[in-house]
Amino acid sequence: MRPSPIDEIADARLGAIRERGTYRRMRVLEGLQGPRMIVDGREVLLFAGSNYLDLARHPEVVEAAERGARDWGCAAGGSRLITGNLAIHEALEEELAAFFGREAALAFNTGYMANVGVIPALIGPGDVLVSDELNHASIIDGARLARADVAVFRHGDMASFADTLARARQDVQEKTRGGAPRILVAVDGVYSMDGDVAPIAEITKLAHEAEAIVLLDDAHGTGVLGARGRGTAEAAGVLDEVDILMGTLGKSIGSFGAFVAGSAKLRDLLVNTARSFIFSCALSPAQVEAARASLRLIDREPWRRARLEANCERLRNRLAEAGISTAPSTTHIIPVILGENDRTMSVCEELLARGFYAQGIRYPSVPRGRARLRITPMATHDETGIDGLADAIIDCLQDDATPGVPRPADR
Ligand SMILES: Cc1ncc(COP(=O)(O)O)c(C=O)c1O
Repeated sequence: MRPSPIDEIADARLGAIRERGTYRRMRVLEGLQGPRMIVDGREVLLFAGSNYLDLARHPEVVEAAERGARDWGCAAGGSRLITGNLAIHEALEEELAAFFGREAALAFNTGYMANVGVIPALIGPGDVLVSDELNHASIIDGARLARADVAVFRHGDMASFADTLARARQDVQEKTRGGAPRILVAVDGVYSMDGDVAPIAEITKLAHEAEAIVLLDDAHGTGVLGARGRGTAEAAGVLDEVDILMGTLGKSIGSFGAFVAGSAKLRDLLVNTARSFIFSCALSPAQVEAARASLRLIDREPWRRARLEANCERLRNRLAEAGISTAPSTTHIIPVILGENDRTMSVCEELLARGFYAQGIRYPSVPRGRARLRITPMATHDETGIDGLADAIIDCLQDDATPGVPRPADR
């Protein structure tokens, strides 16, 4: 038999990945989505998911999904522009628009697909995407698909942002000879590996002064931040000012999918031009109905946001008392940056052995030398669970004898 070219490609590429020490494998989880699950055969407390509010197993959400499948079938049966535009898709979008106080919303199948759909719908060759250096991969890939220029500013740095924006504006004006500038500013609301928050009020103000459009990817802020769970923009008091709000339905909302909220014309534009919307089967009825039920619960059960915040504060404080930094997190995504890949992954394994799953994250998900434990508490962890995790981390780092790495007490 001839040697398989696929195997050759795989061997070469995977060999290089192994050599770099960044080979990844998937863990297998079992059980009902919640704060306690079975991971690789071992029951643990889960501190690694994005079901932050624990809505994925809420009886009303599960019942809505069951009803969706029973009344509408297991598939939407087509793409939205052919046979897949069910009345419940339209209802979900109207409810999302009302939830965020926008004219309209459009559902996408994932947050990744929303970003790679919306960015090329708005900008193209010669236009500029002004992008935070730590933006999510889907924003970067959206800019690639748009074939737009990308101007990157230092993470969260407003001087760097103002500078980058001014240069982009000059560039665009020269190219268009004073015509309408096409600058899209895109930022994550909550940075998914650091847990810090974009200074969205300042970004929006400066962007609008430069006649740029603002896209806020609030994958992690939606449902959690803000007094009513409307996300990062609500928390910053600029919910009405951000031009395009993107959020996901698969994280705090406990279903699957994503959405873009904005003007009615934006929705129309996306329906007609966003390729990841047009050329893909619509969300299944169970997912749609589960998301609708969750939106109602986010309004009805604000205790979930409060409990999540209290849990995160407790964990951050417990670690800080032991000299362990969780900077720059101010949210429900809490990193403990350990630096080296091997050390990070061995602490992750040690925690698993002690009954806690907090994911070790390495390059390329984070910059080289910035490997970390990424801890994501949930609203339904209790204080014993939070304290147990804190004690286990403190213990693991205290035991850790890696030369050159400070122990918690020495930091
Ligand atoms: C900031 C950000 N944007 C977009 C996405 C993609 O969302 P989805 O998982 O729905 O594709 C993620 C996923 O984690 C994210 O962290």
